[in-house]
Amino acid sequence: MERLFRPKGVAVVGASTNPAKIGYRVVENIVSGGYPGAIYPINPKGGEILGLPTFPSVEAVEGEIDLAIVSVPAPGVLPTVEACGRKGIGHLVVLTSGFSEVGEIDAERRIVEAARAHGTRILGPNVFGLYSAVSSLDATFGPGGIVPGRIAIVTQSGALGIAMIGKTASEGLGLSALVSVGNKSDVDESDLLEFLVDDERTGVILLYIEGVKGGERLVRTLSDVTGRKPVVVIKSGRSKRGAMAAASHTGSLAGADAVFDDLMRQCGVLRAESVQEAFDWVRYLASAPQPAGSEAVIVTNGGGIGVLATDACEKDGVRLYDDQGVLAGAFENVMPAFGSSKNPVDLTGQATVEDYENALDAVLDEDGMHAAIALYCETATADASQFERLIRGVFERYRERKPIIFSLFGGESIAEVIRTLRIEGVPVFGDVYEAVSPLGALYRSWRRSGKKDERPADVAIDVEAVRAILREAGSEGRGFLLAHEAARLAEILGLPMPASRIARGLDAAVDAAEEIGYPVVLKIVSKDIIHKSDAGGVAVDLNDEREVVDAYQAILRRCRAYKPDAVIEGIEVVEMVRPGIETIVGARRDSAFGPVVMFGLGGIYVEVMKDVAFRAAPVSLETANELVASIRSYPLLLGVRGEERKDTDRVAEVIVRLSHLAARCPEITDIEVNPLVVYDQGEGIRAVDVRILFEPPKGVTRR
Ligand code: ACO
Repeated sequence: MERLFRPKGVAVVGASTNPAKIGYRVVENIVSGGYPGAIYPINPKGGEILGLPTFPSVEAVEGEIDLAIVSVPAPGVLPTVEACGRKGIGHLVVLTSGFSEVGEIDAERRIVEAARAHGTRILGPNVFGLYSAVSSLDATFGPGGIVPGRIAIVTQSGALGIAMIGKTASEGLGLSALVSVGNKSDVDESDLLEFLVDDERTGVILLYIEGVKGGERLVRTLSDVTGRKPVVVIKSGRSKRGAMAAASHTGSLAGADAVFDDLMRQCGVLRAESVQEAFDWVRYLASAPQPAGSEAVIVTNGGGIGVLATDACEKDGVRLYDDQGVLAGAFENVMPAFGSSKNPVDLTGQATVEDYENALDAVLDEDGMHAAIALYCETATADASQFERLIRGVFERYRERKPIIFSLFGGESIAEVIRTLRIEGVPVFGDVYEAVSPLGALYRSWRRSGKKDERPADVAIDVEAVRAILREAGSEGRGFLLAHEAARLAEILGLPMPASRIARGLDAAVDAAEEIGYPVVLKIVSKDIIHKSDAGGVAVDLNDEREVVDAYQAILRRCRAYKPDAVIEGIEVVEMVRPGIETIVGARRDSAFGPVVMFGLGGIYVEVMKDVAFRAAPVSLETANELVASIRSYPLLLGVRGEERKDTDRVAEVIVRLSHLAARCPEITDIEVNPLVVYDQGEGIRAVDVRILFEPPKGVTRR
């Protein structure tokens, strides 16, 4: 990646003297951007472009070329890639469209193979180019005028990326890098993240993703990067329709949004809802100092916006300083008689600009108060220009020491103050929620910083025994396990299923029931009777010997009447599962991210409540516990209204084992335990139903 961002020489293949063409525009941007290295326009027609002599081919260039921008029509790309490979060029940025995004998958594969044969990497195709501040290289066909700074943007959308050039410039956001990844045929986000995390100029990374490719690696890379630098992501395709549009747009399928959202959170990535929110975050993350602690103070001259800011803080995970004694002391000399020193600190509408400044100084000079949220409602007592000076002054004094954020609310003169201060780089907003949101992002990233991506330790699972069960089922042409096979697999996983015995005869059934303990369930066992309940082959809640005897005889009678020629192998005596909290645990192979594990509220509520969460598998016990705690219904597991806490430790253990099985047996596509009934702490869990789908061995078609 070093050669991509700091190339010694750059060629533009398809450079043109025609200013309307992309091949001209790229050369113009490279020249006007101030790239200090050698520039080689390649065009067989000869001539000069912007005073630079052209070369008929890359091979005709004597000097060293690290990077070639390819802007020739699609049929010319493969020969160009081959020529660049022969020349030993490290990186190609292929601007040309007309590959996998329009279904030309083979053509794209061929250019990647041709490049790999020479050890050349390809960015694209279907990209608008690359900007690298470290080498003053603007190799894009964008509008030019990129301002250097600390934000790196990696974008899958070309048009949005080009628009970002103008938008970042007008918002005063400086860029360390801007990379268009397009079809991601070779170089993808993970390759770029690995470079950017070590790039000293980059303070924060913004990703715009439409569809995930190489999701397993992306999760691992992001988990590592976010401990060292904040990463903000915008992903389109949140809605079902949006996902369909994204899929057809980029030629790669957008992963299910719920999985994406949960996995990004697991990796410590900050997911923004909109481009504007993402810009607000990255600008703040790139400029604000790290907080020394987690407690913020709100200073306001209006009670209402103080309450709104308190709500916004709760939403965005910003904690508020709460030592009432210290608060009272800190504001003793600056508080008007009828103000409130509780947090939010309310100076009331009568506060003068001096009162306001003194209060902010009191917060920002107090070591235990770690960040300030300064809110201001336009009043008759202070005019906007005085306030503008105050904000500028406070921000200058403390900008290196503590995170501060301002929100001003009022008419045209206040709007003007906001515009002026924003251009100067002061974090000032009109809306309270908009103001608190970047501070929330800063805190989330701060909590993540320094965290290492711990690979979960291996868990002992007899994978060979699992595979033997799958092989057996696969040999019968099945891609799913029958109940008894699933029960064997559950046993290997240490999943407690209801105790069960097959009885052949009445006495054996009674013995089995005594051994298991009442109440029990009886079920017919016959290959000829698939729908047991329809045949009257099931009896539940049998509490003593007499009920077992009656049920046994009734089941046989009903089943014989239902299907007289059925071969009856016996009657299964099963432990009757006591009621508890019904949860669901599952693991599956996600098309974008590979193995993922899921936990949620189970039983009949799954579909309605959709209260499930995902993590990339395998997971550690710590992550499994955190997954359990992440669902909305978690309070049910903690016990409500004096109930006992539930046995979540056992649930977490199951999650860990399932996640490791999914990671180690890629042939298992879906495994679902539903319901997994959870009892009070110490009383364990019961897996009532276990379903497994798998990819049968090659040559066997799934029935
Ligand atoms: N080697 C060197 N030069 C070549 C070669 C070659 N093999 N083949 C052609 N050329 C020259 C041409 O002669 C021409 O130069 P000229 O103007 O002196 O005649 C120049 O290269 C360009 O070739 P054209 O045939 O004129 O192609 P044009 O510039 O119209 O289009 C392009 C090429 C831009 C790559 C086009 O095929 C394309 O893919 N456009 C879409 C680009 C795009 O949008 N990418 C995604 C960006 S992201 C987004 O969504 C905005």
